Formats: sequence, structure tokens, C-alpha cells
Amino acid sequence: MNSVNSPSVVVEASNLSKIYDNTAVVDKLNLTIESGSFCGILGPNGAGKTTTLRMFIGHCPIDGGELSILGQPMPRNASLVRESVGVVPQMDNLDPDFTVRENLQVYGRFFGISAKVLEKRIVELLDFSSLQDKADNKISELSGGMRRRLTLARALINNPKLLILDEPTTGLDPQARQAIWQKLRELKKQGLTLILTTHYMEEAERLCDRVIVMDHGKVMADSPPKKLIRDEIESHVLEVHTANESLVESLKQDPSIARFEQSGDIHFFYGDKLKIALDELENSSHDDYLFRPANLEDVFIKLTGRDLRE
Ligand SMILES: Nc1ncnc2c1ncn2[C@@H]1O[C@H](COP(=O)(O)OP(=O)(O)O)[C@@H](O)[C@H]1O
Ligand SMILES: [Mg+2]
Repeated sequence: MNSVNSPSVVVEASNLSKIYDNTAVVDKLNLTIESGSFCGILGPNGAGKTTTLRMFIGHCPIDGGELSILGQPMPRNASLVRESVGVVPQMDNLDPDFTVRENLQVYGRFFGISAKVLEKRIVELLDFSSLQDKADNKISELSGGMRRRLTLARALINNPKLLILDEPTTGLDPQARQAIWQKLRELKKQGLTLILTTHYMEEAERLCDRVIVMDHGKVMADSPPKKLIRDEIESHVLEVHTANESLVESLKQDPSIARFEQSGDIHFFYGDKLKIALDELENSSHDDYLFRPANLEDVFIKLTGRDLRE
């Protein structure tokens, strides 16, 4: 087990491509991920995130370009790579006929871990995922948050060097999400390299030291999250909810507005001060507005648009 070395570059993709139905869903992707980093991949549905991650672990053939994971050429050395990678897939695939402990046992045996080592590892992982009390429960008896924690524990059974998490917290309540975040932070501290996809901007902002925004199979931005907000977008946003066009036209007269967007009856004014528009709102009878600092979601929308996806 863990027979690959620990290179300083964990992912090296060059012109990596995947074609489905004559469309490049991953389009000449160039990406280098350093060891020990926590990299978040954001992108609308259909952006190509899952397909990219599936190529990383050799679950999907590569149609163009080159890829090496943990210093190993892919897909040639896929089975070797999989010994040192942990995966939390987008869809839970725990075995419903088995208990929590049995799920971990079966998975551990795939990796050829000896029974004695495996038992010890399972105790540690049940503890890590706060599932000690559920060890003998069936999967159907677990909450959504417990299932995700178990899938995370299972992904760690082989002591991976790289952990790949595809939307690990989608659909979880805030407590369950924060429990997962806590675990991921612990893993990062231990030096693990993590790659995560998410639709939760604050998740990426809090956890990741690097955020990649992907759309149509391409990288739209790649930066530490705070830098992304600083570099890609105005500092503040004024959101005004109104159907009153003359109010909107008059607010637009503020020369500090750098950019304007509309979505239904929500009007977004982006800029650095917006003082004139704010004064005007304060002096008007209209009180349905919000003035706030720009965030990662604003960057995401700016880069990928407001249109609904699949
Ligand atoms: N096995 C497949 N066959 C055909 N098209 C696929 C297949 N898997 C994914 N796609 C398409 O590839 C695109 C990217 O999908 P995916 O990688 O799952 O995106 P994301 O994870 O960013 O939502 C989508 O348009 C999807 O419909
Ligand atoms: Mg996906």
C-alpha cells in the first residue's frame, strides 16, 4: 500500500480534455496542484467538475492531453494511484445491506489491508467521524450527515495522500456541514492534499487556500479566495428590490457605479463607494435594499453568468 512517493506536485494536467457527444466537457485544462494545498473547484452544474475528478482517478478515459497524479502517468498507473487516493463521490454509494463497520471493512479489504491493521484503523476512523455509537447500525438508520461522515471515513481507510471530495456537503443542514468542515480542516493540518467541489461559496472561502472557477470545461479563474474577490470584483454591492424603473434610472446616475446587473426585480449596483445612490435611497421611501461587501458568489456570477443551468 501507498507505494507511490510523495511528490511536491500532486496533480499535473496539461491540455486535459474529455469529449462527450462532440462537445468538450473538459476543454484543454491546464492545472498544477501542489502537495498540502486545499483546492476548491467551483462551477455551475455541467461545468465539467465531476468529469475532471473522475479522470484524476482513472474512472473515465482521457480524450486528450496529459495527466499525472502523485507523479504517476494516468491512466497507465491508475490502480497504483488509486491506492493512495481517497474519494468522496458526489452520490453516496455506501452498501445499504451492511452496517457502518461492515462498510469500512469491505472497503478496507479492497486495498488488501490485513484484518488486524484494518480493525485498528476502523476504530480510529469511527472516532474521527464521531460514529462510534453507530458502528453496528445499518446505513438506512443514519442521517444524511452521518452518511457523509462515513463516506469521508471510508475514503481515509487507505491513508491516502490525496483526498478528492465531490460536493461532500450538498443537501446537509448547517450543523452537519460544519461537522464535515471541522474534519476537513483537521486533515489539512495533517498535511493531506485536498480537492473539493462545492456549490457553497462560503465553504470554499472558509476551507480552501485556492479556488478554481470552472465553466464549460475551462478554468475561468484560479486564485486564493480573498484575492479572487479583491481582483475580480468591485468592493461593494447595492442590491435594490424594486419594479420602479424611474428609481433605478435615477440610482444609475451615481458615477461611482462600475457595473450594473438585473435579475427580475433585483437590481445589482457594483462599485466602491456608491454613496450618491445610497443617499438617494435613504432619502426615498424605498427601504427594500441591501448594501454589502462583495463576496465569492458575486465573483462566481460575474464569471459564469446569471442564466440557470441544467
Ligand atoms: N457519461 C456521460 N455521457 C455523456 N455526457 C456526460 C457524461 N458524464 C457527464 N456528461 C456531461 O458532461 C458535462 C459535464 O458534466 P459533469 O462533469 O458531471 O459536470 P459538473 O460535475 O460540473 O456538474 C455535462 O454536460 C454532462 O451532461
Ligand atoms: Mg458534479
